[in-house]
Amino acid sequence: MALRVRVCAVDQIVEDQLASYEVEGVAIPILVTKVAGEIIAGTSMCPHEDVSLVRGCIQGTEIVCSAHGYAFDLRTGLCSHDTNLRWRTYKCTIESGQLYVDLA
Ligand code: FES
Repeated sequence: MALRVRVCAVDQIVEDQLASYEVEGVAIPILVTKVAGEIIAGTSMCPHEDVSLVRGCIQGTEIVCSAHGYAFDLRTGLCSHDTNLRWRTYKCTIESGQLYVDLA
């Protein structure tokens, strides 16, 4: 069963900037960015050692964690440093100018 939650207004999302949003009922803030016009969302927690990815940066098609420099593909979540790690991404939907993500 899908669990869809509203995250933020689409006009709050800035190209190549990382932002995280607290969502009621969701334990870990949701990270949102926009790259080449595409909105991307995932958990804000790095799968390596649970550091917030919002302190990281975007490099090309990857998000890079500020803690140890591990990089994760923005679309697949795959880690280019450790194939056992994967950043959890969420399916995004836009309705009435609002971003919703599917947590299931
Ligand atoms: S905590 Fe993110 S790379 Fe180590």
